[in-house]
Amino acid sequence: MKIVTVVGARPQFIKASVVSAALAPLCTEVLVHTGQHYDQNMSQVFFEELKIPHPAYNLGVGSGTHGRQTGEMLIGIEEILFKEKPDVMLVYGDTNSTLAGALAASKLHIPVAHVEAGLRSYNMRMPEEQNRILSDHISTWLFCPTQTAVTNLAKEGITKGVSISGDVMLDSVLHFRKVALNNPEKRKIYEQLGISPKNYRLATLHRAETTDGGEDAIVRIFDAFEQLPQRVVIPIHPRTRALAEEAIKTRGYRNIQLIDPVGYLEMLLLTSGACQVLTDSGGLQKEAWFMEVPCVTLRSETEWVETLEGGWNVLAKLTTEDILEKALHTVPNPAAREAQPFGDGHASEKIVRAVCNKKEWPNQ
Ligand code: UD1
Ligand code: UDP
Repeated sequence: MKIVTVVGARPQFIKASVVSAALAPLCTEVLVHTGQHYDQNMSQVFFEELKIPHPAYNLGVGSGTHGRQTGEMLIGIEEILFKEKPDVMLVYGDTNSTLAGALAASKLHIPVAHVEAGLRSYNMRMPEEQNRILSDHISTWLFCPTQTAVTNLAKEGITKGVSISGDVMLDSVLHFRKVALNNPEKRKIYEQLGISPKNYRLATLHRAETTDGGEDAIVRIFDAFEQLPQRVVIPIHPRTRALAEEAIKTRGYRNIQLIDPVGYLEMLLLTSGACQVLTDSGGLQKEAWFMEVPCVTLRSETEWVETLEGGWNVLAKLTTEDILEKALHTVPNPAAREAQPFGDGHASEKIVRAVCNKKEWPNQ
């Protein structure tokens, strides 16, 4: 059996690392990188550190408007599908690369397996919400990380091909955290940054809501970070870098340490060592939860509602006051961690078993 997998953005490389490893003994995987992320520290570093197979194709699409970026991906992926004639298309998450992979395959009647199906923010202005809804509605397998995702799909009338696999990001945290802890070179990150475990906060920012309105939101966020008792380390996404640098230059913040994006192993060490995470990332909210680090989500809604239980994750409006209030005064309840809503850390194996067993395929 032959599977074409489409990846393109940082979190997809991390998810693919564990699923590709599980696929390797059972089928031929043709990995397609759309080129949506292309900087060394947004792409190559993950392939090297996480031992992801070298992509068979890189479309080199790069950055652009949504239409241009998704359109160029569609054209490139369709050509590959004509040539490779796969049995299955595998896509992850909710980026433009996800939608392009799912749509190109679906139009050619190639069944689509969507990993991380059923997530909803119920905010249709988010490009990710549009990508997820469209991808889910044309998928044959909908691998849900949580029961909430299954329920969300049922509300839209999607029940066929739906299963709870658990979250592949839990698989990757469980595996790569050990790898990171056993790597003395990577563990130097604390010393290199002049921080010690539990003595700093970790932040990331890259959502359109945070970055697209100019400097305003960043200044409100940084005004809050400036007043926190611990230093705030920010591996800055390239999308946000210019705004963040400008804000630091004009406002003279002293409690904010901007650093380049880091590889996944260093990121796991930085996350597990932080006394708190502040983020608008989807993946990082969950990683904080997996590693029992309290999180403030800098958004008005989250797809990962399970993390809100017991105050382990709290939503903050993008005002200085609300961010400070949530960051300083939220005390998570340890008793609220008994449920394991993200599965048992074997999601990849379940996904691979379902896709590779042709006799068990859902009816098309
Ligand atoms: C994309 C996904 C988002 C995901 C995020 C993960 C969509 C619509 N968005 O957002 O869901 O959470 O990836 O990080 O697919 N850039 C670089 N170098 C790079 C990559 C990006 O400089 O290697 C800069 C460019 O200026 C680009 C901007 O970042 O215009 C945004 O990149 P893009 O891939 O369009 O969206 P992300 O914000 O990364
Ligand atoms: N991440 C990383 N290096 C960084 C910042 C993030 O390896 O400098 C990882 C993070 O640990 C998580 C994933 O990237 O696994 C999240 O990606 P991102 O926030 O870009 O996207 P989202 O999850 O919001 O789609």
